[in-house]
Amino acid sequence: FSLKPYNTFGIDVKARLFARFDSVAELHELLQSPELKQEQKLILGGGSNLLFTKDFDGLVLQNGIKGVEKVAEDEEHVYLKAGGGEVWHEFVLHTLNMDLGGIENLSLIPGTVGAAPLQNIGAYGVELKDVFQELEAVHIETGEVKTFDNEACRFGYRESVFKNELKGQYIVTHVTFKLHKKHHLNTSYGAIKTTLEEMQVHEPSIHLVSAAVCHIRQSKLPDPKQIGNAGSFFKNPEIPLSKYEELQRQYPAIPSYPVSETTVKVPAGWLIEQCGWKGKVIGNYGVHKNQALVLVNYGGAKGEDIRKLAFEVIQSVEDKFGIKLSPEVNII
Ligand code: EPU
Repeated sequence: FSLKPYNTFGIDVKARLFARFDSVAELHELLQSPELKQEQKLILGGGSNLLFTKDFDGLVLQNGIKGVEKVAEDEEHVYLKAGGGEVWHEFVLHTLNMDLGGIENLSLIPGTVGAAPLQNIGAYGVELKDVFQELEAVHIETGEVKTFDNEACRFGYRESVFKNELKGQYIVTHVTFKLHKKHHLNTSYGAIKTTLEEMQVHEPSIHLVSAAVCHIRQSKLPDPKQIGNAGSFFKNPEIPLSKYEELQRQYPAIPSYPVSETTVKVPAGWLIEQCGWKGKVIGNYGVHKNQALVLVNYGGAKGEDIRKLAFEVIQSVEDKFGIKLSPEVNII
């Protein structure tokens, strides 16, 4: 079974078994089936945050649970519960149509609702955790359904409990979001500000912020439908302020974002660009020309080639700056 249409990198690998579930009942049935019980399992959302480097000798499960419903409302919020198989951006558009604020900055992120909490997706000053109420997940071994609130998910920068202690143990079936009736726009990110100015917007709204975000993403990030990629391949590293100040003496232009009094985050894209990788094409794969943080498959590349490229990038950044990048994408 070819997984090529199921990963945004467009890597052509095979899975021995593949199944899709459209409800929690169907998922339970699959998990309890005696023939499948012993199989190694991999859960796919939109396949937008993984790199396959070889065939998968087991069962790939695709979450097809759809539907969005209003489950509660108070003076300030509407709580929407969405199926894990919903396409993320379609869910964002749905909230905009309902005039609910909170995830407009997360427009156009590839992937699904169910995959979003795993890495606490974030962009332009907003993270999923800011609007996350709770999620329901099924334990793969026991079939038990469990609810995780914001704290139980232990969200961090591109992190959650599901990428760490509970890795590979749960399948997220539904996510509930706490959205705002009264909007609190976050236009603090430089690129949003300048784009709204270019658009000659004087009174921004959630719709206009979403439009600005779509515009920025489309101009910087390759569309996976045209060029295979999985968004940022690496995380932006956090380094001690003292280390940053030392680097600043040698590289006065090095950008940073404050994290705490003693640490800063440095954009990995800048570090990679300084090492000469931006726009590099190696046969049918390479580093994107507009955003050095994104590795791309121009068509037909092997996952193993891209993995090797990623480790060459990591090595050269470490040699030049003494900073070790870590991949954001799941390498399988
Ligand atoms: N930069 C360069 N060269 C590059 C790319 C970036 O010098 O090729 C420097 C520039 O100084 C630029 C700064 O990095 O001002 C920030 O760049 P950008 O606004 O593109 O953001 P980023 O830090 O590279 C992060 C996320 C993106 C998210 C944007 C916007 C991570 C790993 N990536 O990228 O998330 O869209 O911020 O918030 O945190 C993703 O996770 O897949 C993703 C695309």
